[in-house]
Formats: sequence, structure tokens, C-alpha cells
Amino acid sequence: MMKHQNSPLTDSFDRHHNYLRISLTERCNLRCSYCMPVDGVQLSPAEHLMNANEIFSIAQTFVKFGVTKIRLTGGEPLVRKDFPEILELLSSLNVELSLTSNAVSIDRHFEQLKKAGVKTVNISLDTLKASRFHDITFRNYFDRVYQNVQKLIAEGFIVKINAVLMRGINEDEILDFVAFTKEQPVAFRFIEFMPFDGNQWKREKTISYQEIMEKVQSAYAADQIIRLKDAPNDTAKNYTIKGHKGTFAIISTVTNPFCDQCNRIRLTANGRLKNCLFSQKENDLLTALRNKQDIEPIIRMNLSKKFAIRSGMDGPESFENPDKHKQNRSMITIGG
Ligand code: 5AD
Ligand code: SF4
Repeated sequence: MMKHQNSPLTDSFDRHHNYLRISLTERCNLRCSYCMPVDGVQLSPAEHLMNANEIFSIAQTFVKFGVTKIRLTGGEPLVRKDFPEILELLSSLNVELSLTSNAVSIDRHFEQLKKAGVKTVNISLDTLKASRFHDITFRNYFDRVYQNVQKLIAEGFIVKINAVLMRGINEDEILDFVAFTKEQPVAFRFIEFMPFDGNQWKREKTISYQEIMEKVQSAYAADQIIRLKDAPNDTAKNYTIKGHKGTFAIISTVTNPFCDQCNRIRLTANGRLKNCLFSQKENDLLTALRNKQDIEPIIRMNLSKKFAIRSGMDGPESFENPDKHKQNRSMITIGG
């Protein structure tokens, strides 16, 4: 038996990777401008995507080496017809299972999600205004999504809402989002707009952590704004307003990366391993699996190449260089 059998997935900075994010599909029923390039994306042919059993088999290997948490992402994971089957297979693994969804059709899946032990769901919602929802996503599903958020809460799920803030689009809603947490027991998470292929990122469009906090401080007294203790490996800085049922948080990937605690590794829908959201190098696990090769050495090799910070985009100047992020897949094909 090899010595490192079942040893954790560690990189050269001694970060243990116990959190696997699996993208189930490159398709989506929305067209969020920050994620989906205007001209769409070249979809991988169906036979190049992992099927349910392949997803399970790869996930099993990760669990063997210490993964304790799996998040399903997309595209929109719920557009996959075999989502229930995938969920059921993964629920047999001893992991915390969760989901990132746009909530357009999540009400059809409440029972399956509960049965699979899913407790927390992350919902993408960037505005509380119906007409603006269309401007951002190019679809008229605001009411469905809003109602589904209410239903998720009523069904007892812990609901986190991800809002990507963009200047000139929705940054005027920061205080509305915070006010929303007064009566709604949700965690509203403001995400700094990040550059990916085809999303027309500009530095000026990113609303920084500092700017968000200044806005909050303009409306609430300092002793009303409470800094909460963050969970281990949390990418968000969490806050609440005194007396509010919910919380808010900021995910500052651009201005203040949290890479030193990184425990994440990503698998794309076509079975490629990415050691970072920003990594340009990928390793093909699916072809190896189909060729009956052992995927463990590929996983360890992929991790051994992981950079300390944002796949080498370490300083603010790397964001000014479009070549750095144009080569990065568009978000729709990575999986938030
Ligand atoms: N910048 C920041 N976050 C993004 N997401 C997608 N694209 C971007 C981007 N350009 C995140 C959103 C969404 C999740 C699927 O991925 O928060 O909720
Ligand atoms: Fe779809 Fe989410 Fe991308 Fe929006 S951000 S297009 S909901 S995958």
C-alpha cells in the first residue's frame, strides 16, 4: 500500500482541500451579463460531459482523500434532467451537500433536496426590482425567484443570497439589500464583480468592500453594525445590523483576496479539474476515468501547481491586464 493512501489533498502551501465544487452543466435558464458572454458560449458536446455515474465516481475519489463538503453549481444545476439522480447518488457519500442555484425552478426540488440532506442553498439574486432583474438576466423571472426565496425560507432551508454588485447597474441597492435582512432571515452576500472571459469587466465597475462598508456606515450608526465571527475557510466577511433577523456579508475577491485559507477545488461539467477560479490550466479527469486510469495522481499534480493567490493574479495590476483574465473561461463554464 502506498504511504500517502487516503492522505489529505494538500498543496505546496499546506492548504488542505476538503471542499469540492462540481459544475453539473454549462447551460442556464438566465443570461446574467457578468457570467454569460453576450454571444453565448460554445457548449461542450453532451458526450464530453460527465454523466451521473462519472460524477459520483470522481466525487467518491475526492471523499476518500478527505473532501467533506460538495457544492453543486453550473450554469444552473437544476436544468440538468438527471439532477435528482445525481443528488441521490451524492447523498450516499458522507459529505455536507449544498447547491448554488438561480432559484428559477427550485420549488420543484424541495423534497429531493431535503431527502438528500441539503440544509443550505445559495441563491443568485442581484436586485430586488423586477424590471432590473430583466436588465441583468435578460429573463422575466423575478417573481418566481423572489417567491422561491420565500418558499425556501418557509421550508426551513438556510438561505444565502449572492448579489454581484456592479457600478451603474445595482450598486444603488446596497441599503435596500441590508434593509431586506431586517425581517428576512437570510444571509445577503455582496460579491465584488470579477473579470472572466466575455463579461466586459472594468475595474471601475467593481464595487469594493470599502465602498460597500462606507455605504452601510452612512445609514447605520457604528454601534448598530456588528461584525460576526466568520466560519472557518469562509470567503465572506459577515456582519449584521442590531435587531435584524438576517445578516449581510462581503466577498472581496478583487480587493482583498482570502486565498491563504483556500480549501476549494473545482470540477467543470466536462470533467476538468481547476485548482482556482482563476486558473488557466486544467487537468482532464474525465478522459482519465474513461480510460480506466487512476485519477489520484492527476488530482495531486493539479494541486501541487496551485498558486498562493488567485492563480498568480496576485496584485491589483494583474487585473489591469486583460490578457490575464481573457484566457480564463467565462464563469458560466466554470461554475460559481
Ligand atoms: N463576478 C462575481 N461573481 C460572479 N458569479 C458569476 N459571475 C461572477 C462575476 N463575474 C457568481 C455569482 C453567482 C454565482 C453562480 O457565481 O455570485 O451567484
Ligand atoms: Fe445562470 Fe448563475 Fe450565470 Fe446567472 S450567474 S447566467 S443564473 S449561471
